[in-house]
Amino acid sequence: MNQTKRDGFTSTFGVLVATLGSAVGLGNIWKFPSLTGANGGAGFLLVYLIATLLVGLPVMIVETMLGRAARANAVSTFERVAPRGQPGWQAVGWMGFAAALLIMAFYSGVAGWVYAYIFKAISGEIATTDPKVAAAVFGSLVSNPVSSLLWQWVVLGITGSIIMMGVAKGIEAVARKLMPLLFILLLVLCARSLTLPGAMPGLTFLFSPDFSKITPAVLLTALGLAFFKLSIGMGTMLTYGSYFRDDQNIPATTTRVMLADLSVSLLAGIAIFPAVFAFGFEPAAGPSLVFMTIPAVFTAMPGGTVFMTIFFILTAIASVGAILSLLEVPVAILSERFGFGRKRASLYTILAIALLGVPAALSQSLSAEWKVFGMNPFDLFDFLSSNLLLPLGGILICVFVGWVYGFPELEKQLGNRGTLHNAWLVKTVFFLIRFVTPLSIAAVLLHGLKVF
Ligand code: PFF
Repeated sequence: MNQTKRDGFTSTFGVLVATLGSAVGLGNIWKFPSLTGANGGAGFLLVYLIATLLVGLPVMIVETMLGRAARANAVSTFERVAPRGQPGWQAVGWMGFAAALLIMAFYSGVAGWVYAYIFKAISGEIATTDPKVAAAVFGSLVSNPVSSLLWQWVVLGITGSIIMMGVAKGIEAVARKLMPLLFILLLVLCARSLTLPGAMPGLTFLFSPDFSKITPAVLLTALGLAFFKLSIGMGTMLTYGSYFRDDQNIPATTTRVMLADLSVSLLAGIAIFPAVFAFGFEPAAGPSLVFMTIPAVFTAMPGGTVFMTIFFILTAIASVGAILSLLEVPVAILSERFGFGRKRASLYTILAIALLGVPAALSQSLSAEWKVFGMNPFDLFDFLSSNLLLPLGGILICVFVGWVYGFPELEKQLGNRGTLHNAWLVKTVFFLIRFVTPLSIAAVLLHGLKVF
């Protein structure tokens, strides 16, 4: 396998933006604000921060490290790094394969709504500061089965064509252009939102914690978000790690990505919550929050239609980097393990997602009543992936590196074979992933699922 030259990222900056492209996405602009809003604001933010530092970052470091050490897809990586006689570890890669398809099934649907909103912004249909009008426009989009599915397929078509172009020419090239633009636009939005009259209560909501809202279920949600945000626990960082350069400083790169990703989430929160309060919207609106609030923010500013259109274009584009990384997990597995060409592997992946995406896209219409554990397909896919498969994958990756792979190899890999002088850091990471991280994930997972 892969004896010819394997595709990969071409420069240190390329690695950074592509990895950031995976982390930054709808998670920052849609999931983070809606979960923070629904779970009481600042208290949730604090728990999410702790989960990111204690759990997210260590898992991200070792997951990326494994991928680079093996230079293979998520399944074959375990074939290469696990000791002979322990083939069971490959199951972690297959879990990632399943999680990638599940996430894509609903994620591409939400991206589809964003694409649709670009046109609604241009036509002026969402130029309103009235919550009722905004809610009606959003409701009519998501409850229409035809438009839900068509927009999802547009998303799959666009990202599918990019992924076919490969890692350097597709993923990296796109991320280089889009990430800087995204930051600039978010800053513009924040400036606008903060200067609205009545912005203060929104900031208080975001930054002054109320711990009474923190329940075990909320802890699990925050942990799930930390995994989802950093694209970890499911082989995405493993796959991207396999494209990292040999001289890339993995702990430094992943820490930068984590910090930049966090800044995007905070900026999104700062752009959204002051406006939510200023216009009398409900901060606990859930997944629809962004689709009703952002239009209101823009409608309130001069030249709003233009800014609103650009914003939705950029949100759509932000989703691209994340979707590309989700696609890359199955595409790499299918092409490297089954010998399919990249185009064919991409096509099969897109088709599988289009199928799985049908019940998710119709969750507000035809499949609204298909409930499992009280959840419609959209919520179920989200819950199963973020709150179950990703944390479980995270525990297994920690146990593997901490107890099977071992310290000497970890030190060699994270120290770039002795060229980086980061022994204390490697020791800290080793300690965390051996004990602290897997035990915290297990406790939160079991408690959140009401096992104890
Ligand atoms: N991190 C992405 C976001 O926050 O939008 C979503 C995501 C991408 C999750 C890739 C998981 C993944 F493997």
